[in-house]
Amino acid sequence: MITIALDGPSGAGKSTVCDIVAERLGISHLNTGALYRAIGLYVMQNNIDPRSKDSVENALNRIDVDLNFDKGVQRVLLNGTDVTDELYSMAVSDVTSTISPYPMVRTYITGIQRKIAGKYSVIMEGRDITSEVLPNAKYKFYIDASSDVRALRRINDNKNKDNLSLDDFDRIKAEIEERDRRDKTRDISPLVIVPDAVYINTDKTTAEEVAEQILDIVRGGECEE
Ligand code: DC
Repeated sequence: MITIALDGPSGAGKSTVCDIVAERLGISHLNTGALYRAIGLYVMQNNIDPRSKDSVENALNRIDVDLNFDKGVQRVLLNGTDVTDELYSMAVSDVTSTISPYPMVRTYITGIQRKIAGKYSVIMEGRDITSEVLPNAKYKFYIDASSDVRALRRINDNKNKDNLSLDDFDRIKAEIEERDRRDKTRDISPLVIVPDAVYINTDKTTAEEVAEQILDIVRGGECEE
C-alpha cells in the first residue's frame, strides 16, 4: 500500500497535483477539505451560528458525511445527498474555516480519513495530514504558493461559483490571508510544515511539474520509512 500525505494552504494547487499523482499511480485521491466543507455547508443550510462551538458540535449528531469515488473522482455525500458541487463558494469556505478547529469536528473527520487510509492506497491532502492524521506516512509533502498567486488562481477557478473578476483581487487576497492566519494559528491541528515533509513552492511551476517531482520521489522510494 502507498500512503502519501500532503498539506498546504488553500489555493496552493494541492488538488490538481494530487489528481495527477493519483491517476499516474492508480491510487485514490482524498481531498479532506471537502469533508470539512460538507459540515460547513450543513451549518450554513441549517442557520446554525458557526461561531457557536456547542451548536456546531451538537449538530454533528445529525450529520453523516460519507465519500464515494465515481470513476476515481471523489464525491461527498451529506446525509445521503451528493453535495460535491455546492462546496466551493466563498461563503462555504468562510464558515468551514470557522468550524474546522472545533475538536469534535476534527475527531469526526479524522476518523473517516484514517479508515480510508487503512483500506486503500491514497494520496491524502489537507492541513494536518502530515502532522496529525497520518504522521507515519512514508511520503510527506507541503505544497505552498504566495497569496497573490493563490488569489489569481481563485479568481480563475472554474469550480468557484461566485463570478469573481480581477476587480475582486484585493478582497480575495485579504480573505485568503485571513484564512491562512486562522488555519496556521489555531490551537488544534494548526497548518504546519513538519520537518520530514518535502517543501514545494508552486508559484512558478505547473501542476504537472509538481506532480512529476512527487512521482520521482515516490517511484524512487527516496523518503525514509
Ligand atoms: O482545502 P480547503 O480550502 O478545501 O479546506 C477548507 C477548510 O477546511 C479550510 O478552512 C481548512 C479546513 N481544513 C482543515 O482544517 N483540515 C483539513 N485536513 C482540511 C481542511
